Order: sequence, then C-alpha cells, then structure tokens
Amino acid sequence: MPLVSMRQLLDEAAKGGYGVGAFNVNNMEQIQAIMEAARETKSPVIVQASRGARSYSQDKFLYHLMLAASELYPEIPTVLHLDHGNSFETCKSAIELGFTSVMMDGSLKEDGKTPSTFEENVDVTRRVVDLAHSKGITVEGEIGVLGGIEDGHGAGGTGLEHITDPDQAVEFVDKTGVDALAIAIGTSHGAYKFSKKPDGSVLKMDRLIQIHKRLPQTHLVMHGSSSVPKDLQDIINQYGGKLKPTWGVPVEEIQLGIRNGVRKINVDTDNRLAITGAIRKVFMETPEKFDPRDYMKPAREAMKKVVALRMTQFGQAGHANDYSPISLAEMKKRYESAMAHA
Ligand code: G3H
Ligand code: 13P
Ligand code: ZN
Repeated sequence: MPLVSMRQLLDEAAKGGYGVGAFNVNNMEQIQAIMEAARETKSPVIVQASRGARSYSQDKFLYHLMLAASELYPEIPTVLHLDHGNSFETCKSAIELGFTSVMMDGSLKEDGKTPSTFEENVDVTRRVVDLAHSKGITVEGEIGVLGGIEDGHGAGGTGLEHITDPDQAVEFVDKTGVDALAIAIGTSHGAYKFSKKPDGSVLKMDRLIQIHKRLPQTHLVMHGSSSVPKDLQDIINQYGGKLKPTWGVPVEEIQLGIRNGVRKINVDTDNRLAITGAIRKVFMETPEKFDPRDYMKPAREAMKKVVALRMTQFGQAGHANDYSPISLAEMKKRYESAMAHA
C-alpha cells in the first residue's frame, strides 16, 4: 500500500479514542524496528524524520527505505512525516520528495531556537497549509514553545516559559487550517526533561485539557513524550555509560492526554536509549566481536520492544485494519470541498 495521509490516521484515532506514536528514524534498522513492531501489534504507524535525519541519511535513501517498508508491510497504514520543519522551503522539499505529512514548526524562527511572533507563525504555517492541502498532504503546526536545547530544537529553559495560551491556540487553528496542533505543556526534547517524577507544577496536563475543551475537533500532538524509563537508563550505565538520573513523561500522563484529544505522540529518545544500551551490552560482554550485525541486530530488537510497548500503551495496537486508506488525490478533494463550504 502507498504511504498514506496522516490526517486520515488521526481522524480514525479520534473516532477510536486512541493515540498514535510518531517515531523518529535516521536509518534502515530504526525503520525495520518500527515496521516489525507495527506488524506484531497490528498498528497503523507514523514514521518521522527531522531535518537532521534528512541530512544524515541524504533523505532520498530514507524515502526509498520507506517505500520498501510500505511494499514489505502492505497491511500497515504508514505515514512518512517531516518532524519540525523550520521553513516553508523545508516543508516544500519534503512534499516534493514524497512525505505524506509535514510539520511546520513556526513557533520558532528558522534557526530553530528563537521564538517567533504569533503573526510570523500564522503566516508561514498558512502558506505551508495552502501548498500541502493542494496535494492532499497533512500539516501539523505548533503554538507555544518546547523547552530544552539538547537536540537543537526548542527555546531552552525549563519548558514553562512559553506554555501554549488557549486563546492563541484557537485563533491559530482558525487562521491556519492545520490538521494537527502541537502544544507546549512543559515537556522538552531529549533525556533530561525533569529532575524528579513530574507533577502538575512542571507538566501542565490541566492546560492540555483546557485547550482540548476549546478545540474539541483538533488533533493535539505531544512532543518530547519519551518516558525515559529507568530500566533503559540502567542498562546504559551498567555497560559503561554515564547518564545522570533523569525523568521523562510518565506513560499514564500521556494516556490522560489521549483521553483529552492527544492523537499523535512523538517519541525518539526512548528508542535512542534502547539502541545504545543494547550496543553497549554487546561491546562490554563480547569485546572480541566486530561484525556490525552482531550489535545492530540486538539494537534493532531493543527498539522494536520499546515501540511495540508504546503502541500498546497508546492504544493504536489492533487498529491497522479498521479502515481502507484514502488516496492523497481523494484527500486533496476533501480539502477543496471543506474550503468551498467554509
Ligand atoms: O525533534 C527532535 C527529535 O528527537 C529529532 O532529533 O534533530 O536530533 O534528529 P534530531
Ligand atoms: P523525545 O526527545 O522526548 O523523544 O521527543 C521527540 C520529539 O518530540 C520529536 O519531535
Ligand atoms: Zn518534537
């Protein structure tokens, strides 16, 4: 089956009351891990690539690996999504390459660090929506700014400086016509999100619930949603790593979000931890080995386990065959008719 529209996946998730994990990839093994987890759990999937991933992989490699995935796993509705597009041009090039969904992260300026103005965000996002919808492609926008600078995305700080304002969220959705909306509620990218298990003073689930009440039809997206489980931290440290104690977003908070309009949940760090732990273990236990397959296979397996678990916890498991995918041409017609009736 061809790569499918993210809008359809999220609409179906809303109907079914579940969330869909969006997992970052940079290479073949990560794509294989996700597709195997999807097959095992019968899940629809969102595979996403950041600008860094596109440059690391020379994105054409990644794109053709994704075509292989859709050919080898025809029963799995699969989306290829651009994570954190920083400009109209970045989104345009992803659309031209064959991504079926793009994120225009206009909450930050093109440098990916400096918060932009509301007007700048609306302007660039609206332009991306016009282009994308004319081709049946989905758009995710962002309002409010995530914390953290560890991976180059986000404005730094604790993540509480630019929490999403519900009035602005409503105006943003109205003015841009985005399909999905990423909001800032205190999370950040990377492993070092919280210095203890987060409570309501640092993870603003109440704000998310407020926004959902104001925008019940909008698919909400949670970024920075790795849970950074202690067992994955421990494996890394047991085999020579040096992670400092840290906390991520507890799965039960994500599940609360899913009950309140969250349909897409972004996870990268947990998979990075799983891969690194598995590779360290092989290196420490069998230092005589030097065939990359000896450590890439366990790494792929470790990531598959994390992804399959998240798919089950987010509720997408078992939903791969609930519906027939709509073509991008049909999605284009739907966007046109929604515009005509607006
Ligand atoms: O947005 C953050 C993701 O974890 C991707 O990170 O830019 O290092 O590929 P990256
Ligand atoms: P984590 O760093 O928590 O995995 O977040 C990933 C993310 O939000 C990608 O856009
Ligand atoms: Zn993100």
